[in-house]
Amino acid sequence: MKRSIQVLTASVLAAAALGAQAQVAQVKVWAAACANCHGTNGRAQPGMESLAGKDKEELVQKMLDFKSGRKPATIMHQISKGYSDEQIQDIAGYFAAQKK
Ligand code: HEC
Repeated sequence: MKRSIQVLTASVLAAAALGAQAQVAQVKVWAAACANCHGTNGRAQPGMESLAGKDKEELVQKMLDFKSGRKPATIMHQISKGYSDEQIQDIAGYFAAQKK
């Protein structure tokens, strides 16, 4: 009995780890869509806004403001509408965690 609980616990943990990895891979795919303009992993060329190492909450707020039209934009109002608020949270977290 004890043994089967251990096996069960191990497989639940393994599944959780796999799930977390899949989640990271998914966020990377979303973030890659920003790389054309904001640079690889959010490190932009001069003249473009870098996203790497920015405050997560600030990135989330800007994306939500683009989405709602509160923040004027040439292109970001359209791009931000392509993501749910949860996806924006995840993408912002990804860029905030990148080195500047
Ligand atoms: C086609 C080019 C392009 C792509 C792709 C793009 N952006 Fe932008 N981004 C811009 C431009 C241009 C601005 C300046 C605001 C504007 O004119 O829309 C901007 C501004 C921003 C800002 C505000 C920067 C600041 O500090 O004022 C954030 C945050 C941002 N983008 C996040 C993202 C994220 C996240 C993605 C990917 C989901 C993304 N962008 C994809 C062109 C792009």
